[in-house]
Amino acid sequence: MQLSGRVAIITGAGQGIGKSIALKLASYGADVCAVDVNLASAEQTAKEISAMGKRSLPLKVDVTNLKEAEAMAEKVFETFDGLHVLVNNAGITRDGLLLRMKEEDWDAVISVNLKGAFNCTKGCVKYMTKQKWGRIVNIASVVGVQGNAGQSNYAASKAGLIGFTKSIAREFASRNITCNAVAPGYIETPMTDVLSQNIKDEILAKIPLGRLGGAGDVAMGVLFLASNAANYITGQVLNINGGMAM
Ligand SMILES: NC(=O)c1ccc[n+]([C@@H]2O[C@H](COP(=O)([O-])OP(=O)(O)OC[C@H]3O[C@@H](n4cnc5c(N)ncnc54)[C@H](O)[C@@H]3O)[C@@H](O)[C@H]2O)c1
Repeated sequence: MQLSGRVAIITGAGQGIGKSIALKLASYGADVCAVDVNLASAEQTAKEISAMGKRSLPLKVDVTNLKEAEAMAEKVFETFDGLHVLVNNAGITRDGLLLRMKEEDWDAVISVNLKGAFNCTKGCVKYMTKQKWGRIVNIASVVGVQGNAGQSNYAASKAGLIGFTKSIAREFASRNITCNAVAPGYIETPMTDVLSQNIKDEILAKIPLGRLGGAGDVAMGVLFLASNAANYITGQVLNINGGMAM
């Protein structure tokens, strides 16, 4: 699963799962552009990658903005003379039962989680097409597969991302660009730190492997899909959830 000579963009790389993916891909040889709306956190990730001896570039990008996403792809291609892997990881939650959910909570989640992936993919795919090699990995969720009360916006965004993944896989297969999704279960990150202990215990009871996931569990799946080891895999959803959904 070596990624030497590959250039990867990870969105939402400032913390949590995105940071873990960025460090993992770098540790397997990739040069990495760490993208986040929070520049200081992207810079920290990039610093840790440089310390590993790989080239890195921190960029402040709001993935909801198409122009920023296109400028990101151009900058990375110019800086590294290549763009091989895109991981659409940036995501947010704005939970609430439907009757109480505000329109702006719906729009914000769809905008970051789904439109963000559209924007970044659109920006990057033309460079991958030129190279006739590309790997796109979208971070979906078990909630996009099963639904979840109180997360209709988030579930819709992640289910949408799975449909997007399969469509891009079909559109770009002839250019040797694969597109797959990873659907994590409950992973311990700042996003899930806000859940109460009661809710965490309820979730835990549903996980056959008996523990919440770590960001590194997700990063290994992304590494696999981004590497030559997954050359014949496209349009798939890899569930990384300790068995909570089968
Ligand atoms: N933690 C989990 O249990 C879990 C489970 C399934 C799926 N996921 C998904 O994994 C991904 C990462 O989740 P996490 O738990 O690491 O979340 P997190 O909140 O810890 O990190 C998300 C990162 O995305 C960045 N971000 C947010 N909006 C952005 C924007 N508009 N443009 C650029 N960057 C932006 C944030 O600044 C942050 O650094 C998300 O897509 C999330 O939906 C998480």
